[in-house]
Amino acid sequence: MKKITIAIDGYSSTGKSTVAKQLADYLGYVYVDSGAMYRAVTLYAMQQGIISDNHFDVEKLKESLPSIHLRFLKEAAWNKAHIFLNGKDVEDKIRNLEVSEFVSPIATIHEVRVKLVAQQQKMGLEKGVVMDGRDIGTVVFPNAELKIFMNASAKERAQRRYQELVARGDDIQFNDVLKNIEERDYIDTTRDDSPLRKASDAIEIDNSDMNLEDQFHTVLQLAKDRI
Ligand code: C5P
Repeated sequence: MKKITIAIDGYSSTGKSTVAKQLADYLGYVYVDSGAMYRAVTLYAMQQGIISDNHFDVEKLKESLPSIHLRFLKEAAWNKAHIFLNGKDVEDKIRNLEVSEFVSPIATIHEVRVKLVAQQQKMGLEKGVVMDGRDIGTVVFPNAELKIFMNASAKERAQRRYQELVARGDDIQFNDVLKNIEERDYIDTTRDDSPLRKASDAIEIDNSDMNLEDQFHTVLQLAKDRI
């Protein structure tokens, strides 16, 4: 069977990663969570004091980029690959609200994007990859055979994210989650470099009122039509 590249873009917390992972597992493809890479760079900046007192030092981050090594590793016991930052598994450290607050500003930095996009393109060289993010169908894989653009109302997305964080044991307010989602949407869609856009050949799916199973079958059918 022919292998294809599947790009899944969309707003924050639209469930891109859930459907991308289901699809990759079903097809035996590699799943790449590109957002985890931007989050790991943000965590690095926090750990190195490049982000402090609500500010970050852009020049220092640019200088540090060669020292940031990211890779994904999967062990049988894990249901998805974990991201490793300079040899350390940071999967559990990159989803909190603190990282979420800085990740979108960090992702506007051109040099950060150049580094991560190059690594993402390398991971997709052999096809058989499902990657989710904001610029996958427009910049990373403009020739992807299947491009999906996911959307849902901001409230619905915040509700899902809030439930996820509460389930993890985070002490968090719904309004802070909603505010963070709205802020990230704004930054992601208005930045100069690779703003979040629906590629002209992407298929839009609004999953506000869709359950996970319907969503998976819709996307799977679209993939099967192209394989
Ligand atoms: O996908 P996730 O919500 O974890 O991504 C975190 C942030 O990383 C996004 O809000 C966005 O600012 C940035 N991002 C990006 N390009 C990607 C993936 C994520 O700019 N391909």
